[in-house]
Amino acid sequence: MLPVSEKEQSTIDPVELRRAFGTFVTGVTVVTTRDEDGLPRGMTANSFTSVSLDPPLLLVCIGKAASSFPAFNSSDSFAVNVLHDRQKDVASVFASKSASKFEAVSHDAIHTGAPVLSDSLTWFDCTVHSRVDAGDHVVLIGRVRAFGTSPAAPLGFCRGRFASVEDPMPPGWTPSRRMVIGYLVEHEGRILLRSDGAGGWGLPTANRRKAGDIVSLDENGAVALLSDDAFLYSVFDVADQEPGYVVYRSILSGQGGAVPELSPSLKFFAPDELPWAHIPVRQIRAMLRRYLHERSEARFGIYADSSDGGRVAMIDGAPRPWRTLNGLAVDHETADG
Ligand SMILES: Cc1cc2nc3c(=O)[nH]c(=O)nc-3n(C[C@H](O)[C@H](O)[C@H](O)COP(=O)(O)O)c2cc1C
Repeated sequence: MLPVSEKEQSTIDPVELRRAFGTFVTGVTVVTTRDEDGLPRGMTANSFTSVSLDPPLLLVCIGKAASSFPAFNSSDSFAVNVLHDRQKDVASVFASKSASKFEAVSHDAIHTGAPVLSDSLTWFDCTVHSRVDAGDHVVLIGRVRAFGTSPAAPLGFCRGRFASVEDPMPPGWTPSRRMVIGYLVEHEGRILLRSDGAGGWGLPTANRRKAGDIVSLDENGAVALLSDDAFLYSVFDVADQEPGYVVYRSILSGQGGAVPELSPSLKFFAPDELPWAHIPVRQIRAMLRRYLHERSEARFGIYADSSDGGRVAMIDGAPRPWRTLNGLAVDHETADG
């Protein structure tokens, strides 16, 4: 091997150097921000690094030649979206010079207003902590204001190519979280369950909940839900060491139509075919039994766990749709004052 480090800097061949840097295996992110006109800007970046837990800091290096550089260099906030293994196309679009990159993805403003992709492995929404000038790049150091993650497999990058990363976790694992956001999704009388990959069934989960039309389920891509029919259904703890559950009930959009193509780990079950013996979490079995009973009377209750066995608050009448007022989701009564 050449003693590259002993040579003068001027003799470093940038092509060889890029090749040598490329042997360091990384994930792939899309870094996003807004320009002075408020338009979303973004680029694929693998220079992402975690920096500090206290305060919570991360960094990414932005090339000065990038057309989105002025936006990253002047904005107060940015987001880092870590991509999962089914997002090579997203990585390619954001590595291009396309003027319509954001038409390929859906995104939301979460905390700072920087565009957070609706589908990703993990996202960090940051305010700019500092910028460090470094040759042909600027090191952008961000302070994490909000983040979310999912158990999908990461997209890797090595030697200039996208790479598959063998996930060391068993299939169907869920990351340790204080609360799991579960979805009790119904379609034409049948209920959607997710295989845990080991013979058991549970609820599909998502890494965040917003009153929107598309819910991106962990590992299983996005599904379209009728957000007007979604309501909080149950909140419960499982055991001291396990995460608790916040469960929303929702209806898959496209009632009357064909079931959309779903990941193989998702399956709809008719009520009399539910795999009770293979649903390991007792509280989920109890919730599903209550749901089947309540839907037969079209009268639902919201369950909240408590030390004396929990309480159910009944919803009177049909759930009212959400509507947006000045960007805030409010119910009709509030909106109508
Ligand atoms: C896997 C991968 C990683 C990349 N990492 C970075 C990076 O960390 N920083 C950077 O400035 N450009 C990086 N790029 C290049 C930019 O994505 C590319 O220059 C893009 O066209 C910039 O978009 P823009 O000119 O629209 O801003 C990377 C590209 C790929 C494919």
